[in-house]
Amino acid sequence: MQYSMKYIFGFAAALCLICSVLISVANVGLRDRQEINKQLDKKKSVLQAACLIQAGEKTNRARIESLFENIRARVIDLSAGRVLDDVDSARFNEEDIPEQPAPANKAGIRTLRNQMLIYEVMDGDRISMFVLPIVGKGLWSTMYGFLALDADTKTIRGLTYYDQGETPGLGGEVTNPKWTALWPGRVAYDENWHPAITVVKGSAGSVEEAPHEVDGLSGATITSRSVMEMLRFWLGDDGFGPFLKQYRESGQA
Ligand SMILES: Cc1cc2nc3c(=O)[nH]c(=O)nc-3n(C[C@H](O)[C@H](O)[C@H](O)COP(=O)(O)O)c2cc1C
Repeated sequence: MQYSMKYIFGFAAALCLICSVLISVANVGLRDRQEINKQLDKKKSVLQAACLIQAGEKTNRARIESLFENIRARVIDLSAGRVLDDVDSARFNEEDIPEQPAPANKAGIRTLRNQMLIYEVMDGDRISMFVLPIVGKGLWSTMYGFLALDADTKTIRGLTYYDQGETPGLGGEVTNPKWTALWPGRVAYDENWHPAITVVKGSAGSVEEAPHEVDGLSGATITSRSVMEMLRFWLGDDGFGPFLKQYRESGQA
């Protein structure tokens, strides 16, 4: 049977229209679910940074939510270094906070928001760990992750990246559990509370041998350096330094 050009184009246009309507409906209809999954994914990364779940471990929503019951989300004023008790962390959306130009830094961070969401892992009434969001430029991508710090505010308890676009097998090894396992126990600051964590080229040795150093990723010196620079930025005076200092000086550390 021969179809006219008008029929063929009409049919194709109608098919496109039906498909785009279906995709739009699915997109709108699943938006809530996407948001829930996004939040769940973030919680999972926080738990991974805190080593409360292992990378690659099979988890479900119930387990994540149950582990999260011991985690308190807090909104802090970055420059003042204090918790904003009057801001409800459950309703906090960092996108609502205006971005300001960041001070000069080596982490490729151009803008900052003065209010940020952090997490406190609780052991009863006391804080056992902080989980802090970190972001910075890698070789190809902006890398997003979490750093878990002990309540002594200097001992690293874990590091995880949940969003990065470095080359798989090279910079992308920042998510390799063998590499992230090298971080717990390393000491983030020197004795004068200056960020001292260093990602070295090659092998750093054990925590006892090199408390401030971590092995670089082979063939990915640039990404390794980016990790170091972003950690130093976020641990420093323009990042969470003032908040951690205030916590230490409050006598709770
Ligand atoms: C296709 C391709 C992808 C690369 N991806 C990365 C990367 O994700 N991270 C990185 O640091 N270096 C990457 N590199 C290597 C860098 O260009 C650079 O050579 C490297 O960081 C130097 O590290 P090295 O001194 O350990 O060899 C890539 C190179 C090529 C050719």
